[in-house]
Amino acid sequence: MTTPMALLKADSTYTFKIFRYDSKTPEKEPSFSTYQVDVVPGMSVLSALLAIRDEMDGGLSFRCSCRSAVCGSCAMAMNGKIELACRTQVASLGSDLIILEPLPNFEIIKDLVVDMIPFWAKYDQIKPWLIRKTLPVGTEIRQSEEERNRIDQFVHCILCAACYGACPVPSRDPEYLGPAALAKLERFVLDSRDERSPSALEAVNNEKGVWGCDTLFKCIEACPKDVRPTDAIVGLRKSLVKHKFKKLLGMVKDED
Ligand code: FES
Repeated sequence: MTTPMALLKADSTYTFKIFRYDSKTPEKEPSFSTYQVDVVPGMSVLSALLAIRDEMDGGLSFRCSCRSAVCGSCAMAMNGKIELACRTQVASLGSDLIILEPLPNFEIIKDLVVDMIPFWAKYDQIKPWLIRKTLPVGTEIRQSEEERNRIDQFVHCILCAACYGACPVPSRDPEYLGPAALAKLERFVLDSRDERSPSALEAVNNEKGVWGCDTLFKCIEACPKDVRPTDAIVGLRKSLVKHKFKKLLGMVKDED
C-alpha cells in the first residue's frame, strides 16, 4: 500500500502565519503573527489554532464550537482556500507554511472572527422557513422519498458562509444576497410542503438576487457539504422565467 503524502508531512513542525487585526483599535494596521507548531498525524487546523491560543497566544481570536463540521462557525481561508478549520488536516494543505486569514467579503471584528450580522440579515430576507396556507401550523405534512431527495443537498447546508466568502460578487456589490441565501430559497421552492406563491420569487428577480450571480461556481468549490448554490440560482432563474411565460399566456394571475 502506498503511504499517503499527507502522512509523510505529519509529525513535524509547521509555521503558522495568522492574520491579526482588532476593530477596537482601527488605527493599528493589520498584520500577521507567526507561530511554530508541532503537528501530530491527523491534527486539524482547528486543533493547531487551539494549541496556539492555549500555549502561545491567549489573545488570538477565532470561532469554533462543534469541532465536527456541524456548526459552521470555523470557516476561514487556509493558504487561500476556504474550508472548515475543524475538518481540515494540517498535513493535507501540502505546505509547511500555513497562512490563515478571515473569510473574505466580511468586516473583521478581530483576527479570524468576522461580523456575520449582514450575512444573517440577507438570509432572513428570503424567509427561510416553511410557508403554509392550507393547513394549520402543527399539522403533520408527509413527504415521499422522492420529494425529500429533491431538497436533500440544500438541507445539508450548515450556513458556514464559505460560499459567501468565495463568491466574487459581494466585493463589488455588498447588497448581493449571496449563494447561501439563494440556495436556501430554492430549498423551500423545491419543498413539496412549502406553499409560497411563485410571485414571492419577485423579491430576488433582480441584480441583488438571482441575476447578480456570475456563475463562476466558486461557491460550489468552497462548500464543505457538497451543496451546489449555483445550481440553485439557475433553478430559481428558470422558475422565474417559467412564471413570467405563464403570466403572459394568462395561465396565472398576477398575485399567483
Ligand atoms: S467547529 Fe463547528 S464546523 Fe468547525
